Amino acid sequence: MPATYDVLFARLASAFDAVSPGADPVLRPSERVDYQANGVMGVAKTLSRPPREVAAEIVRHLDIADIADVEIAGPGFLNITLNPAFVSSQLRAVVNDARTGISLSERSRRVVIDYSAPNVAKEMHVGHLRSTVIGDSLARIYRFLGDTVIPRNHVGDWGTPFGMLIEHLLDLGEDSAVSTLSMGDLDSFYRAARAKFDADDAFKERSRQRVVLLQGGDMETNRLWRILVDQSVAYFQEVYDKLDVTMTPSDVVGESFYNPLLDGVVHDLAAAGLLVDSDGAKCVFPAGFENRDGEPLPLIVQKSDEGFGYAATDLAAVRDRVGTLRADAVYYVVGAPQAQHFAMVFATARAAGWLPESVRCEHIAFGNVLGSDRKMFKTRSGQTVKLIELIDEATERADAALRQRNPDMDIAERQTLALSLARAALKYADLSNERQKDYVFDLDRMVAFEGDTGPYLCYAHARIQSILRRLDEPVSLDDVTFSLDDPSARSLALGLLRFPEAMAATVNTNQPHRLCNYLFDLAQRFTSFYEACPVLTAQGNERRERLALCVGTARVLATGLSLLGISAPDRM
Ligand code: ARG
Repeated sequence: MPATYDVLFARLASAFDAVSPGADPVLRPSERVDYQANGVMGVAKTLSRPPREVAAEIVRHLDIADIADVEIAGPGFLNITLNPAFVSSQLRAVVNDARTGISLSERSRRVVIDYSAPNVAKEMHVGHLRSTVIGDSLARIYRFLGDTVIPRNHVGDWGTPFGMLIEHLLDLGEDSAVSTLSMGDLDSFYRAARAKFDADDAFKERSRQRVVLLQGGDMETNRLWRILVDQSVAYFQEVYDKLDVTMTPSDVVGESFYNPLLDGVVHDLAAAGLLVDSDGAKCVFPAGFENRDGEPLPLIVQKSDEGFGYAATDLAAVRDRVGTLRADAVYYVVGAPQAQHFAMVFATARAAGWLPESVRCEHIAFGNVLGSDRKMFKTRSGQTVKLIELIDEATERADAALRQRNPDMDIAERQTLALSLARAALKYADLSNERQKDYVFDLDRMVAFEGDTGPYLCYAHARIQSILRRLDEPVSLDDVTFSLDDPSARSLALGLLRFPEAMAATVNTNQPHRLCNYLFDLAQRFTSFYEACPVLTAQGNERRERLALCVGTARVLATGLSLLGISAPDRM
C-alpha cells in the first residue's frame, strides 16, 4: 500500500507540474488541517503572478476529490483535509500489515556502518555508547528497509601503545593479565602500563623493541598481542550483549586488518601524484581544506618515522569497503571532533579515484555526553565511567521502580523486565536527542516512567497489550471501517498514517531522534484517545474500530521501538 503522504504528493506534484514544470508542492503535515502544500508562493514568484490566482489554477488541475478536500488559505497555502473513507482504507491496510505501512526500499543497497569502535585494552566510554547505540539503530533501520547491512567495528587494535601493553602483560604474567582483562578492568591495565612507560626507562626501551617485533611479524609477539585483542573483544561483546546490540565478534575488523594494505595506499597515492613530502612526512593536501591562516591543511598518511597514522588506516578502509565489500553507502558513526578528519579522508579517497560519486560516504557525527555540571561525563575522581556499570545502575533503578509499582510481580520476570527497561532508558535517552548536540546524562530522568523516556514508551505499549488481553474472544479486523467521529480517534489515525513519513525523515538525515519524536507523539495521541474513547465497553463497529486503533498503535510502537534497539514488553 503506498504511504498516505506519497499518494497525496503524487497528486499534488502533477497539478503543480501542469502549472510550473517540476515545481515542488512542499507538502507538510499540519496541526490545524491534515496537510498543507506550501509550494504555491514559490511558483507564483517564478511566474510573477499573484499567488492566490496561481493557487486557484493549481487546484483546477488537481485530481484529488476522491481522497481529500482542498481549500486555499491566506496568501496561497493549500489546506488539505483527508476524506474519512480514504483515511479508513489507508488505516485498514496499516492495521493489517505486519510492516505497518513501511515498504521495502526500491533497490536493496549494501550499507557499511562503522560504529562502536572502542580501543583494545581501554575502557569503552560514553562516547562509544553513543556510537554503539546510534550505529545499531541505523543498522536495524536499514535492515528493516531491506538493505544489506555490513557492520564494521573499527576497533583500535594497532599502533605504538601495543609495545608497552605487551610488555606489561609479560610483567604481570599471562594468566593474571588475562584475568584482569576478562574482568573488564581494561583501564587499570592500560594505566599501569602507561605509568611504567613514563617512569621506567628500561621498560620504555623494551616497549620500543616490542613495537618493532610486532610490526615485523614476530610470532611470539603476535601471540601476545592476540591475547590482548581477544580478551578485550570478549569483554566488548559482554557489553553489547548486555545492551542488546546486534554487533557480533565477526563484525570486528580492527585497524590491524588494514595494516598490510597501507603500503599500497602510499604507493597508489604517490602514483596518482597526490603525495607531498612535508618535513619528512608524506601528506595529501586535499583541495578546500585550510587552516586559520589560509594555508593548505595536510592529511598525514605516513609520518617521518615511517609509521602510519590513523588517516592511512581510514584510507585503506575506504578502499576495502568500496572495492571489496562493494558498498553503496558507508556511514561512520563517530564523534563530531573527527569531522575534519573524515572530510579530508573522503576528499582524498575521491581524488584518488577510490570513492566514486555513486557511493555515499558520510560521517554520522554526534555530540558529547555531559554530566550534571555540563562538563564531560566522568566519575567523581575524573575517570571514565564504565558502560557496564551504567547499565547495571539503570537496571537497579528500573527494578526498584517496578517493585514499587507492582509488589506481587514474580522476581525472575521483574529482573528480566528491569534489564529491558534499563536498555530502553539508556538507548532512548541517547537517541531522542538530536545526535549532533551534546546531552546531559541524567539517569533519574531516563528511567522515569513518565515523560519523553524509553520506559514511558514501553509502558504505552504494555498498556495497550493489557487492553487486548482482556478481550473475551478474538476480533477480526480485516474489514473494519473507521468512522473516526471522535477528534482524538482521528488524530490517532493520522498519527498512525504518518509512520512512513517519520521513517523517511529519519533515514534521509540518519537522525534517529526523528523516529523517537514521532513515537512519543503517537503515544500521547493514544493517551488522549484512550481517555476519550473507552474500548472494551464499546459495542459493535465502534468497538472494532477502537480495537483496531489499539492494535495499530501497539504494532507501530513495537516496530518503531525495535528499530531503536528497544524491545517493547507486553506487560509491565
Ligand atoms: N577507535 C576510535 C576512537 O575510539 C574510533 C574509530 C572510528 N572509526 C574510524 N573508521 N576511524 O576514537
